[in-house]
Amino acid sequence: MIAGGRPLRGEVRISGAKNAALPILCASLLSAQALVLDNLPELKDVDTLVRLLQGMGVHAERQPGGIHLACPDLHTPVAAYELVKTMRASILVLGPLLARCGQARVSLPGGCAIGERPVDLHIKGLEAMGARISIEHGYIVAQVDRLRGARIFMDTITVTGTENLMMAATLADGITLLENAAREPEVIDLAECLIAMGARIKGHGTDLITIEGVPALHAARHRVMPDRIESGTFLVAAAATQGDVTLRNTCPDALLAVLDKLYEANASIDRNGDSLRIRMRGPNLGVSVRTAPHPAFPTDMQAQFMAMNCVAEGTTVITETIFENRFMHVQELRRLGANIEIEGNTAIIRGVPGLEGADVMATDLRASASLVIAGLIAQGETRIERIYHLDRGYEHIEAKLMGLGADIRRVAAPAIG
Ligand code: UD1
Repeated sequence: MIAGGRPLRGEVRISGAKNAALPILCASLLSAQALVLDNLPELKDVDTLVRLLQGMGVHAERQPGGIHLACPDLHTPVAAYELVKTMRASILVLGPLLARCGQARVSLPGGCAIGERPVDLHIKGLEAMGARISIEHGYIVAQVDRLRGARIFMDTITVTGTENLMMAATLADGITLLENAAREPEVIDLAECLIAMGARIKGHGTDLITIEGVPALHAARHRVMPDRIESGTFLVAAAATQGDVTLRNTCPDALLAVLDKLYEANASIDRNGDSLRIRMRGPNLGVSVRTAPHPAFPTDMQAQFMAMNCVAEGTTVITETIFENRFMHVQELRRLGANIEIEGNTAIIRGVPGLEGADVMATDLRASASLVIAGLIAQGETRIERIYHLDRGYEHIEAKLMGLGADIRRVAAPAIG
């Protein structure tokens, strides 16, 4: 429940990145020795993945702010549907399982709220490395004696696909070239963790990653990078409420496209090391965005910008080029009084003077974040249902927002019937 209409003010500490933590946790499957992670966020998705890894043989012990992982005996290379269906990123175990023990049985993730999201490029890449793969009863069943290096071209840029193949290639026989690789900062963070474990990787952060396989990886310690999407979400929330917020422990260099768009919307942003302070220079002018792979504007920030644009001066256009069905938040924003029209993969947002609180429903992780921002802008009370989506990817979100002066609280859903 949010009582909106107050500007956010103060400081907030940004957590470790969900989308870096998930692949890095999977990297623990690649080695018999310990992997210690710092700055691991407390999130539902992290818990789900740790449970999945434990079922395979990973010993996991939470430490303050981090985790100690070790997988001396990878006895069950299986990812069951029950867990995979709750979190698509579980597909990230496929490459490490094949690389470490030559077999894997991983449930196909299936569709999700934001679109079809196939995993064909993960499978094709592993086949190019010599794996025999079939689909049986909804499971990817894969086998290989030892993966061998290969030249792999991915015709669509895929983040988890790049990560899966990069992990698989660390233990392959020979050199792997990943062409048209994703350049997301989380891919770089994973590569740095793998390098600390003894992997030989070059070119991460470019579209050509070269991996020279080694026989085994060793113990390592790695600090998970700050979450750029959580950072962007707080920046937009501050701008949309005409607030004044400083982010601590963030990653300004990974946020350039987002910062550029916020500047265009009339924000002033000051950088000081790994801190960012945002204020508005005047009225919210809104800003048109087009999502595309990094370093362009991230699809995971589209919904939040749309919430801000709802109350901007003038008309803005948001074009979604990554996922075919990522406008689920639009009908909910309309319930708060937004004027949004959809034409194919484009949303046309005509700014209105204000939003009004209403009951809305969260449909996926980033759509939920956009509804929170809209609720913070709106006059009156907004009740957001199905906030478990938020807990998947935002650490202590209501505590952090309360710390910035928001009137927000978690209430139990009313009993039905
Ligand atoms: C990751 C992020 C997600 C983000 C997305 C795009 C994680 C855990 N999740 O998701 O938050 O929104 O990147 O930045 O890091 N595709 C195929 N075949 C494949 C794989 C992908 O056609 O085998 C297509 C997808 O349908 C989509 C596009 O490629 O249209 C990009 O998807 P991808 O980068 O793979 O997204 P994820 O890695 O699942």
